[in-house]
Amino acid sequence: MARRSPSFVCQNCGAVTTRWQGKCESCGEWNTIVEENAASDIGAGPGRRAQKGRPFALEPLAGETQEAPRLASGIAELDRVTGGGFVRGSVLLVGGDPGIGKSTLLIQAAAALARAGQRAVYISGEEAVAQVRLRAARLSLAAAPVELAAETSVEDIVATLSQGKTPRLVVIDSIQTMWTNSVESAPGTVTQVRGATQVLIRFAKKSGAAIILVGHVTKEGQIAGPRVVEHMVDAVLSFEGEGAHLFRILRAMKNRFGPTDEIGVFEMTGSGLREVANPSELFLSERDLGSPGTAVFAGIEGSRPLLVEMQALVAPTTLGTPRRAVVGWDQSRLSMVLAVLESHCGVRLSGHDVYLNVAGGLRIQDPAADLAAAAALVSSLANAPLPADAVYFGEVSLSGMVRPVAQGAARLKEAQKLGFARAVLPEPTRGEAAADIGLVLHGVGALAGLVADIAQRGSPPKPARTAPARG
Ligand code: TYD
Ligand code: MG
Repeated sequence: MARRSPSFVCQNCGAVTTRWQGKCESCGEWNTIVEENAASDIGAGPGRRAQKGRPFALEPLAGETQEAPRLASGIAELDRVTGGGFVRGSVLLVGGDPGIGKSTLLIQAAAALARAGQRAVYISGEEAVAQVRLRAARLSLAAAPVELAAETSVEDIVATLSQGKTPRLVVIDSIQTMWTNSVESAPGTVTQVRGATQVLIRFAKKSGAAIILVGHVTKEGQIAGPRVVEHMVDAVLSFEGEGAHLFRILRAMKNRFGPTDEIGVFEMTGSGLREVANPSELFLSERDLGSPGTAVFAGIEGSRPLLVEMQALVAPTTLGTPRRAVVGWDQSRLSMVLAVLESHCGVRLSGHDVYLNVAGGLRIQDPAADLAAAAALVSSLANAPLPADAVYFGEVSLSGMVRPVAQGAARLKEAQKLGFARAVLPEPTRGEAAADIGLVLHGVGALAGLVADIAQRGSPPKPARTAPARG
């Protein structure tokens, strides 16, 4: 009879090895491998007797669904990200740093549904009932008929929820605090988190309740990250924000029933999260008009146009290797834009530190940001403020050309709505734009043309302090 060998599971990525190691070979993290007895949730191994399967009825693809499969929460920014509401029988994971506002968002969602007459249950594994009540009172939601409990055993939770009318929404805050007695490992380990999630998913599929799991993400991977859970659930939403900023962005990372590129924008206020229906106004509200190094980017997030300010600082370096720092944008995209500026536009940056920041704590993924980033960088280097009434968008190719981007008309319309008078955009996109757009359009073919335009406006760039021999 085969001996059941212990397995070692990485608490960061969930990789299984047969012996302990200091470093996980799968994800490269150190000290994350823990011995776990995972046999019971992995299923029949060589040492187990095979069980006979139970036949079940197969069903046709076309069938009756009595109730609407989606349940809108009434919080428009949340519904936009889920794709129109919570899907019946689905499990959704909301991840985010501690303190970002996950519990606040979800108690608000539960209360909105409960007020609309749906049964909503909020189970907290982290806070006592009194604490959840206090928060609800602060949010003026105390009167909403949400059912509350402070519990951590998923078997008890499923048994409780199976009684009476099936709840439409169940919030589990957080999945790391839950444990199932079908697995022997300690609560908080990957095996427990996975086991507890399995039990809850089974309940959701069987009962039709929508379940939202809260998951904490730690950079160190100390506690079992919800990474392993991501593959099991139907949708993963990430709730993000920069510490000091009050804006919070809800973003779909995975969605089996909806789009993955939509964002929801909220503002954390003294009385909870407030929806921001027109984020462009918010992101542009504190603009620093007339200073060099800022460009307004006309972006698209999901189906919605979004105007944000990109800020660049290019300053002579005192370091041997100049610094390249970026907040809110992709580091490798910045490197690419810098390389194109150097090799195709004659911009010398090897003696300069470069900092790029997206105002308001937003993280941009739209490739059309290249042109705005390049404009901001050159504006800072040349000490030439860009016109305050212009927006920029376009993708920069490695050959130094500005490539057309999708949804040009929507970007221009948003810029026009917010009072901008001109747009700097790829030449092909300019050709397609409607004549009555109400903006002056400057089409750009090669990035070098734009660089020359900006450099002409400003004072000559200050010489870098490193020896000119390098560049
Ligand atoms: P919380 O929802 O508890 O975060 P998470 O569940 O993601 O850990 O929110 C915590 C932060 O939000 C806390 O720092 C206080 C702040 N907050 C407000 O600013 N206003 C409010 O109305 C509430 C409830 C919280
Ligand atoms: Mg919380």
